[in-house]
Amino acid sequence: MTIGATVRRLFGRHERTVARLYRSIFIDIGCLSSLIREWMPQAQKILEVGCGEGAITEQLARLYPNADIMAIDITPRVGRLFNGNQDRVQSSK
Ligand SMILES: C[S@@+](CC[C@H](N)C(=O)[O-])C[C@H]1O[C@@H](n2cnc3c(N)ncnc32)[C@H](O)[C@@H]1O
Repeated sequence: MTIGATVRRLFGRHERTVARLYRSIFIDIGCLSSLIREWMPQAQKILEVGCGEGAITEQLARLYPNADIMAIDITPRVGRLFNGNQDRVQSSK
């Protein structure tokens, strides 16, 4: 596991919040996701390559409530932090 992932895990139930705050220094995921939605107002099927632990997947699932989403990554922690409707979101390594 990377140092970043190891340190984040130390925050336990606050991990998602801490990860979001830390990332907001570099990237606004909400803004990025909204831009994607602007560029592509509708989608039925979404393939996210390099989804990591699912932060952007979660945003996409929220912005495209009718889309089926497949999120893939080479990490063994794929989709670990995804917190959303799993009926139409699949993640795979
Ligand atoms: C900067 S992270 C972004 C993670 C996620 N999209 C997010 O924003 O939370 C880049 C991700 O790409 C993944 N990755 C790198 N090479 C890959 C490959 N060949 N196939 C799939 N995923 C890959 C890494 O494991 C990593 O999780």
